[in-house]
Amino acid sequence: MVADVLLRAHEADLAGRPAGFVDDNPDLLGRVILGIPVLGRISEIPGFDYEALIVAIGENRRRAEVFDQLAERAERMVAAVHPAAVVAPDVAIGEGVVICAGVVVNTGAVVSDGVILNSGCTVDHHCRIDAHSHIAPGAHLGGGAHVGEGALVGIGTSVLPGQSIGAWARVGAGAVVTRDIPAHATSVGVPARETGRRDGSED
Ligand SMILES: CC(C)(COP(=O)(O)OP(=O)(O)OC[C@H]1O[C@@H](n2cnc3c(N)ncnc32)[C@H](O)[C@@H]1OP(=O)(O)O)[C@@H](O)C(=O)NCCC(=O)NCCS
Repeated sequence: MVADVLLRAHEADLAGRPAGFVDDNPDLLGRVILGIPVLGRISEIPGFDYEALIVAIGENRRRAEVFDQLAERAERMVAAVHPAAVVAPDVAIGEGVVICAGVVVNTGAVVSDGVILNSGCTVDHHCRIDAHSHIAPGAHLGGGAHVGEGALVGIGTSVLPGQSIGAWARVGAGAVVTRDIPAHATSVGVPARETGRRDGSED
């Protein structure tokens, strides 16, 4: 999906053409996906010819780990923004952010490093989306909502204005968040209620 976003951005003259995938799955080596070759393993990156990187791993904890490893090496990270996304000009977009088709991000929002804003989600004015979180397709965040680091806001969830979702929390698909959700909690339903809490090692 991230490659597709980058290709669409490239077609619209908004980004360079992706040079290749790197992946630690040996079965992928040599394959061509969406016209883009799989070049090799993550550890082999320094040997490739490239200008910048983006971490296209869906699972939040793993994406954060790989992002941090690359950032430690001072690698340059790009954002991937689909040309069919509508992002207000004053929105702060961090490094390695993915913004898919149909997303709307309104004025004053802050989208931190490594965040995924998935297809058709909306992020209203002055929301703060912390690093490596994932706003799933069709989720809606009311004005001033806060999503903590590494949190997952599930498909079609609604978060009422000003509510806060803690770091590494998971909000189940279709939930309606009417009050703050603690860090590491899993919450589901309408209104969202906590069904469990994981210690940090399980995130
Ligand atoms: C909430 C969620 C994180 C829980 O995952 P999990 O810990 O693996 O939970 P399970 O699938 O084992 O389900 C546990 C219970 O919660 C219920 N449940 C799971 N998701 C639910 C949801 N979204 N709403 C209501 N109930 C839900 C299950 O039916 C099950 O109930 P039961 O014990 O009575 O059978 C997950 O179901 C979910 O909704 N994830 C969002 C996925 C998503 O949007 N991903 C983005 C993809 S792009």
